[in-house]
Amino acid sequence: GKDLLTLLDYSKEEVSELIQLADDLKKLTKAGKCPPLLEGKTLGMIFEKHSTRTRISFEVGMKQLGGNGMFMHARDLQIGRGESVHDTGHVLSGYLDGIMIRANSHEMVKELAEHASIPVINGLTDMYHPCQALADILTIYEVKGNMKGLKIAYIGDGNNVAHSLVIAAAYMGMHIAVATPIGYEPNDEIIQKATAIALENGGSLYVSNDPLEAAVNADVIYTDVWTSMGQEEEAAKRLADFKNFQINDELVANAKSDYMFLHCLPAHREEEVSTSVIDGPNSYIFQQAENRLHAQKAVLASVMA
Ligand code: CP
Repeated sequence: GKDLLTLLDYSKEEVSELIQLADDLKKLTKAGKCPPLLEGKTLGMIFEKHSTRTRISFEVGMKQLGGNGMFMHARDLQIGRGESVHDTGHVLSGYLDGIMIRANSHEMVKELAEHASIPVINGLTDMYHPCQALADILTIYEVKGNMKGLKIAYIGDGNNVAHSLVIAAAYMGMHIAVATPIGYEPNDEIIQKATAIALENGGSLYVSNDPLEAAVNADVIYTDVWTSMGQEEEAAKRLADFKNFQINDELVANAKSDYMFLHCLPAHREEEVSTSVIDGPNSYIFQQAENRLHAQKAVLASVMA
């Protein structure tokens, strides 16, 4: 089966088809007519880290498609006590029809996919968050329609969410401005690949350390937490390093008047974003979070049906 480890393994057409399918499945679901495309199928969902959106949306998504989602915390599996990824991949392939995994290490997920004969879906690794990016693009599509030529500003930590977002936005031909503090820039190799994709599709990609420049004339402003799971020890340093990167009224005054604010959540109000912005009229965060469900169903139907 086909895996979804990073959108870099997908073509522009495949990404566009997933967005279209997600939009169709959302409309069908709202009308009470979600097709049972995965009847009798079981998705195993392995988590090494906490999750609200990814866990619930995959589980509900499987149910809506007629199948089952089975939650497994990695610490309860033998893999949490040292059973090899190799053996785990082979064994789970005998029971399940697909695996969704949230793991610390992208390399581990790649290894799992190599040894599993069933599709493996990345539910967040240290490098990528492809399912989040599909929900982000679906949300922009719903609000703005045509995405080509829009300016999206990602302001904050050049992390896994940023990586997948710039790849997805590049396929859509958007003009992408990434602004991070010095030392928090996104992965260079991913930026080079995403820049090439953006240029091929009539867009552009620019990385800087200037949040104001990124926000100017933006149609979409996106941020993520400054301190997340596993970063508690460096929290004080990170808060100091990111202090000029808050999305607040002063910053968004530089964006277009009908800009969209997006955040993958969970959010820390008054850290990376002011309450006025995240709870203001330009915020689409809950539509974006709901869209995880429909984007997930498109991915599941595409790799498992
Ligand atoms: N955005 C996101 O992945 O949320 P969870 O960590 O709650 O799954």
